[in-house]
Amino acid sequence: MKASGLAFLLCAVTTVSAKPFWPKGKGSLSTTTIAGVEVVDTQIVRDAQAVIRNMTDYLYKHQMRSWLFGAAMYNANETLKSQVDLEVHAVGTLLHDLGWDMTPGSPWFTLDHRFEVDGAIGARKFIRSHPDGQFWDEQRVQLVWDGIALHGTSSISEYKETDVANIVRSIGLDYRGPGLGVTQEVYDAIVAEFPNDDLIRGTNETFVFFCETKPDVTYDTWLQGWGDEFIPGYSAVGHRAVDMYVPE
Ligand SMILES: *[C@@H]1O[C@H](CO)[C@@H](O)[C@H](O)[C@H]1NC(C)=O
Ligand SMILES: *[C@@H]1O[C@H](CO)[C@@H](O)[C@H](O)[C@H]1NC(C)=O
Ligand SMILES: *[C@@H]1O[C@H](CO)[C@@H](O)[C@H](O)[C@H]1NC(C)=O
Repeated sequence: MKASGLAFLLCAVTTVSAKPFWPKGKGSLSTTTIAGVEVVDTQIVRDAQAVIRNMTDYLYKHQMRSWLFGAAMYNANETLKSQVDLEVHAVGTLLHDLGWDMTPGSPWFTLDHRFEVDGAIGARKFIRSHPDGQFWDEQRVQLVWDGIALHGTSSISEYKETDVANIVRSIGLDYRGPGLGVTQEVYDAIVAEFPNDDLIRGTNETFVFFCETKPDVTYDTWLQGWGDEFIPGYSAVGHRAVDMYVPE
């Protein structure tokens, strides 16, 4: 009894001292290995994985791969890795598509926001209601918010903070394949554990779903193409910025 009590105490002390007080990504965070990739392993990152584990399979795997590809990109460049916040990256990539959750009654999906904004707002709520995340500097939360809000718009995100640009690049790796330091071998190991054969179908169906269920937030965005191409009766005309400039 006494011995196990002591063991518990030692264990608790070890856990506490191993935990960085204000993790910024530059100190030493606990790590683990998933699909051959060394990744940051803190409670908030584990809890972010638990949130998406509940989602439909293609969506879970897409967000896991985005994180892992990004982590592999960082692992291939120590200079770059030292410049970013690994927890911001993990939470930003793992939760970037909360807005794609089509589960009825989803706490993340809304009819009045474009999906990137649903994701960004959802991730901020997740962080702020988390026992560790509640103490995050607003700057870190904002980096997650921006990375998610801009993840469909790399023509802007590329010129933002390194953390933001790289959340978006990480997600892009899932669509574009090996690159940015991620070798074919590393890429294949990730895909072997989190197969991507359903990615294109799942993405396409989700975009069509948005154009059908909340067309107002797709008009004049890059999503409009899915409505124009695939949905009979969908028309952005009258909802576009240019419509103000079209002669009567
Ligand atoms: C997963 O879904 C179940 C059932 O809806 C819910 O009770 C649980 O809290 C969810 N877990 C997470 C981590 O969101
Ligand atoms: C590694 O990252 C640094 C900092 O972002 C960058 O300047 C450098 O070009 C990168 N190296 C390679 C090989 O990509
Ligand atoms: C995308 O969805 C549309 C509408 O359902 C369908 O016609 C098209 O074949 C799909 N494309 C892919 C690649 O799944």
